[in-house]
Amino acid sequence: MKRVFGVFGDPVGHSLSPAMHNAAFSALGLDYVYHAFRVKPEKLEKAILGAEAMGFGGLNLTVPLKEAALKLDCIKPDPLAERIGAINTVVFEKTGEITGYNTDGLGAKKALLEAAVEIKGSKIVVAGAGGAARAITFQLAADGAEITIVNRTEERAIELARDVSAAILPGKLKGAGLSGLKDLLREADVLINTTTLGMHPNIDTAIATAKELHSDLTVFDIVYNPLETKLLREAKAAGAKTVSGVIMLVYQGAEAFELWTGIEPPVELMKKTVLEALQA
Ligand code: ATR
Repeated sequence: MKRVFGVFGDPVGHSLSPAMHNAAFSALGLDYVYHAFRVKPEKLEKAILGAEAMGFGGLNLTVPLKEAALKLDCIKPDPLAERIGAINTVVFEKTGEITGYNTDGLGAKKALLEAAVEIKGSKIVVAGAGGAARAITFQLAADGAEITIVNRTEERAIELARDVSAAILPGKLKGAGLSGLKDLLREADVLINTTTLGMHPNIDTAIATAKELHSDLTVFDIVYNPLETKLLREAKAAGAKTVSGVIMLVYQGAEAFELWTGIEPPVELMKKTVLEALQA
């Protein structure tokens, strides 16, 4: 029988997940279908229990539901999702349990590995201290990166650094304001932009200019709309290696796919599908 998968969010109409997962299902000959559902936070529990009752194969959660999901009694978060404070993937276990995961950090890690970045011991500057920064920082700190978080609102950076330090690396992480970025970049191996700078419609803004970047740096922008952000153009002008947010998007989806199905996902096809959808 056909199995249904889905993403819950609000708004969710522009999600690239249906195209990505349906392409993967069809390439593997699976009789599965993935659909986007508009769900409001106050209806999330009912929607998840309904999906479980109807035999859904798995779910993704997106804005504004990722944090709300952690508060629901029906979901058991895995330890990483609990630390991050957000769930983006729901698995309906054979035992009847509903488990919540966060694959965003793993998606970022795989995007860096694909660009041949050595994570352990590398000096990473994370710009931004929102939900995405949280997921990425918890993952990469656990993998042994030396991370400094910089954020417009300095207290948020300090708070995130403190949370990750307390959970993973006592006293190791630092948080700072944006004014420290220039100096930090000189010593850094990787810059990850998790702020909304450069995202449509603010396409002419970037967290750093070519002059502040250098050719030994890998610059990873999690923004994928537009595909090539101003930051990535600045990075190229500085001779830095660049990593697009699309790659993270695909790998966070691929991780979810594997959690649901136990099958290795066709990552290259998923990339191609997402790129085509973004260019359409
Ligand atoms: P997400 O959960 O997707 O990471 P978020 O929680 O809204 O999104 O975080 C957005 C990030 O972009 C924050 O770090 C925000 O900085 P503040 O904490 O100071 O708000 C950052 N950001 C947004 N607009 C910015 C701007 N114009 N300049 C610098 N940083 C900006």
